[in-house]
Amino acid sequence: MADLGAGPARHAAHLARYHRPARVDAVDASAAQHALATDLYAPLAPRLRLVHADVVAWLRAAPAAYDVLYSVFGALDFTDPRDLLPVAASALRPGGRLVFATLARHVTGEPAAAEPAPARIPARTPDGQPATLFRWVLRPHRWAALLDAAGLVDVVVESLPSAGQGPSAVDTLLVSAARPRRATR
Ligand SMILES: C[S@@+](CC[C@H](N)C(=O)[O-])C[C@H]1O[C@@H](n2cnc3c(N)ncnc32)[C@H](O)[C@@H]1O
Repeated sequence: MADLGAGPARHAAHLARYHRPARVDAVDASAAQHALATDLYAPLAPRLRLVHADVVAWLRAAPAAYDVLYSVFGALDFTDPRDLLPVAASALRPGGRLVFATLARHVTGEPAAAEPAPARIPARTPDGQPATLFRWVLRPHRWAALLDAAGLVDVVVESLPSAGQGPSAVDTLLVSAARPRRATR
């Protein structure tokens, strides 16, 4: 399995330590996050593999390699789904599953987008320079349509209520889809 946009790899490390999959690849494009993950969890190798890479490039080079791909507010939120979902579909084995948690709306209160367009989020680089992040916060029907267009089936989009309260408490979309067991198109 692989964690797409694993950050410091705490979720992947939990899986490796307590659920003992054959292997979990924690993939992240940020050098700082990869270094932190290495400091924290390098001893969990080889069950946990820490990968410094962009997920689109990584998955493109891994056809039918994974049973499960998942993301926790990770690369699925910050990468154009029209680039990422087709390569994720090809990187799954037939019957394999993609599962991801993403925002149901923006933390600022803005609604999710009906079209596959990103919002521009003001951010800072690690050295403090102003930067812009692109974040895809999409409505359930748009995620379902994109997953379908990528050739995935058995699409389920659940809305999980926020555990917090107040204006910045945001529901989570838990999205799941599978690669067909046999080619359908
Ligand atoms: C909000 S953090 C979440 C990290 C982790 N999933 C967690 O819950 O702790 C998003 C992470 O996704 C990574 N990311 C975003 N787009 C990516 C891409 N295309 N390839 C690899 N990593 C990506 C970022 O570097 C960042 O570490």
